[in-house]
Amino acid sequence: MIDTVKTTHVEDFLRNIERIIPLEKIDYLIVNHAEPDHSGSIPALLERNPRIKIVCSRGGKTSVARHCPGGYDLQIVKTGDSLSLGKRNLRFFEAQMLHWPDTMFSYCPEEKILFSTDAFGQHYAHSSHFADEVDDCELWAEAIKYFANILTPFCGQIIKKINEYAALGWPFEMICPSHGMIWRKNPNRIVEKYLEWSSGRAEASVVVVYDSIWKGTERMAKAICRGIEAEGMPFKLFYTGVADLNDVMTEVLKAKGFLVGCPTLNNNIMPSLAPYLEEMRGLRFLNKIGAAFGTYGWSGEGVKRLEEALEKATVKVVQPGIKILFKPNDEDLKSCEQFGRNFAKQVRSSCG
Ligand code: FEO
Repeated sequence: MIDTVKTTHVEDFLRNIERIIPLEKIDYLIVNHAEPDHSGSIPALLERNPRIKIVCSRGGKTSVARHCPGGYDLQIVKTGDSLSLGKRNLRFFEAQMLHWPDTMFSYCPEEKILFSTDAFGQHYAHSSHFADEVDDCELWAEAIKYFANILTPFCGQIIKKINEYAALGWPFEMICPSHGMIWRKNPNRIVEKYLEWSSGRAEASVVVVYDSIWKGTERMAKAICRGIEAEGMPFKLFYTGVADLNDVMTEVLKAKGFLVGCPTLNNNIMPSLAPYLEEMRGLRFLNKIGAAFGTYGWSGEGVKRLEEALEKATVKVVQPGIKILFKPNDEDLKSCEQFGRNFAKQVRSSCG
């Protein structure tokens, strides 16, 4: 068995496995990664079959022990090690930080299947199990959303590990992630996408995220977008009141430019913007450029605070922020349009 499921699904999991093989007949559990969505049901499995030997990476020794304390047989493997299962074999590849230190891939040479744990997966469930049987738009939207929100901090490591794997010469005809769809028709297409998404290259487009109290910053945001549009550049506008954080991060991965705006509130930014900026700080997107905007009443620190947060989020601030006292008038809105135009030009020139 390769990996288990989160505890919420343990009953279904054990029942489904028993349709194929009695639990007592399982000899090995390969733990490719011990985050609880993969390892949560190990204790229930061991309770049913304490004879199972757990196979994991060096990093897995710690994570398995912390998530599943108790006595069990453990075998530590490293890249190039193999395990004979009789008719078939498994080989192992240490894929540290894709996305945990314990992560490893398992490979079955007889079937040419790569079991890649989180890598190449999605947070996507469907009555079908195969990527070629689901809606292509939905599939790729889920694949990039997963990458943007889970794997972005490890772009350099992803490229390194994909190259390291390729050098092993273990050809695959199928990639089975631990969740999401199985890639069986041209499975290399998801690997190529990972190389593309890890490269730091982005579309010449802009994501604009804002919050507003009395619609002043909202009018600024819309005027800025008119300026971007006038330059013939695509953009997406998100209002924090209804936006989904993970959807916004997905769009940030795709776009070169990021603009953020809110009014000054208590000498600071609006708290609703903080999750976006903190998430970006953690995800460490590559090569983004940005700028800030917002209204203010008297002290007006909001834009400066947004710019500081952008820099902490590794977004290079490429033009001075624009701030407007209380309520934007027609002339102010023209300045906002010009701000949008200027930013679009910067995005275009930095995309080459
Ligand atoms: Fe890192 Fe699917 O858990």
